[in-house]
Amino acid sequence: LFMRQVSGLDMLEHQLKEQLQIEHVIVVSGDSDEAEEVKTELGKAAVTYLKQVLKQQSTIAVTGGSTMAAVADAMTPLNQNMECLFVPARGGLGEQVENQANTICVEMAKKAKGSYRLLYVPDPLSEESYHSIIEEPSVREVLHYIRHADIVIHGIGDALTMAERRKTPADEMKKIKNGNAVGEAFGYYFDKNGNMVHKVRTVGLQMEDVKQAERVIAVAGGKSKADAIQSYFNQGYSNVLITDEAAAMELLR
Ligand code: F6P
Repeated sequence: LFMRQVSGLDMLEHQLKEQLQIEHVIVVSGDSDEAEEVKTELGKAAVTYLKQVLKQQSTIAVTGGSTMAAVADAMTPLNQNMECLFVPARGGLGEQVENQANTICVEMAKKAKGSYRLLYVPDPLSEESYHSIIEEPSVREVLHYIRHADIVIHGIGDALTMAERRKTPADEMKKIKNGNAVGEAFGYYFDKNGNMVHKVRTVGLQMEDVKQAERVIAVAGGKSKADAIQSYFNQGYSNVLITDEAAAMELLR
């Protein structure tokens, strides 16, 4: 407690909550761009928060990325009577296996002693396959859980970093660049005002579903993500941010 007061994290949380106009902000000390341990701390903070807000039989949709992998790493068993269900928010989105939502979802569910359902769908999809795949009974069932998730927990990334990491095809890359995309979350790219400039075509959570979820928790840190975080919150899609000191300071500059 003493450490927190001295480091002024409480103040950063308060100021950021005002600036972003959201319900809750948690700031951990350090910069996850510089030190891997800070990402571990983000993960732990996210788990602590998640456990406070989970209700019995909650459905939790999770995205991919290394920050969400840190959340899964930090997960600990939930009470036996919780019966929570974990689902991947959207497909693999071109991430490496360890950073894919399916992988993270299984690990999180196992550590939480909850259950999980996965999406086995290639991704990204052509327009044609997209429409036939979402009609498959097995896919439809999982999609139903995803679209009615009570809690969404997701990462945010810098738009160009993510587009490159996903080996985005040239035509889409052009759209992202021409649209001056700054931030990215669950396959949606946003410009600095939070307008959506591109969307990866994949099965799973759509923006309308995100808006309907009871609680949407973004976990993203590192000084380099400040603009991305601000762009995403400019449209107010999420109500909680768990971040680090370096991102917080940069956001408040
Ligand atoms: O690709 C999944 C995803 O959650 C993106 O939506 C997000 O931009 C990115 O991962 C964050 O990744 P990381 O936590 O590794 O920075």
